[in-house]
Amino acid sequence: MELYLDTADVGEIRRLTALYPVDGVTTNPGLLAAVGGDPAGTLCAIREAIGPDAPMFAQVIPADAEGMARDARALVRLLGRNTVVKVPAVPEGFRAIRMLKAAGIAACGTVVYAPMQALMAAKAGAAYVAPYVNRIDNLGYDGVAVTRQIHDLLERQGLPAKVLAASFRSAQQVQALCLHGVPAVTCAPAVLDAMMKNPAVDEAVAAFAADFAGLAGEGKGMADMI
Ligand code: G3P
Repeated sequence: MELYLDTADVGEIRRLTALYPVDGVTTNPGLLAAVGGDPAGTLCAIREAIGPDAPMFAQVIPADAEGMARDARALVRLLGRNTVVKVPAVPEGFRAIRMLKAAGIAACGTVVYAPMQALMAAKAGAAYVAPYVNRIDNLGYDGVAVTRQIHDLLERQGLPAKVLAASFRSAQQVQALCLHGVPAVTCAPAVLDAMMKNPAVDEAVAAFAADFAGLAGEGKGMADMI
């Protein structure tokens, strides 16, 4: 399973890639706006932080297919070969995804709220489709269920696009989709941190440390005993 960080905050990207087995970073215009400054500069700083081989997702801005394709080429020039270009899964986006496929640029159909939208992006040639789990929940539907349907639909139709589940608010949403076999998820730093936070675990780890300190002395590890 691929695990991505959904943020444009370079400090958080450095902190979390050091801790977790993260595969890459996903961004969008909202995440770039949240950190402010020059968007191209931020994208370059992210690329530098994760290295040239890690997949990095960046989104096109124009509303027409030609403009989207132009943005996509510029993003690949800026960020290198391991860039996946996020294209909104709307009619002009499907046209752009076909153009990118023909040009050998990997695309992710994004802002997906419904299975047929994902199917269309996948059929147009997207390498990934990104359903917005929590935003679907916020509309009163079941984001996890919709994302499962998308995963199953792509499999049953023999389309190679991977589901990149996005827009999470809870560990429970992420876990349900991992269990279902969704091949990629992207999590905001706060969701990833919260997912690994458990006072019972902290207590157990602290108790082991205290037991060993009682045995061997404060600050000693196994290496000091061997
Ligand atoms: O990757 C898509 C994501 O950034 C949207 O998530 O948290 O703004 O609903 P959110």
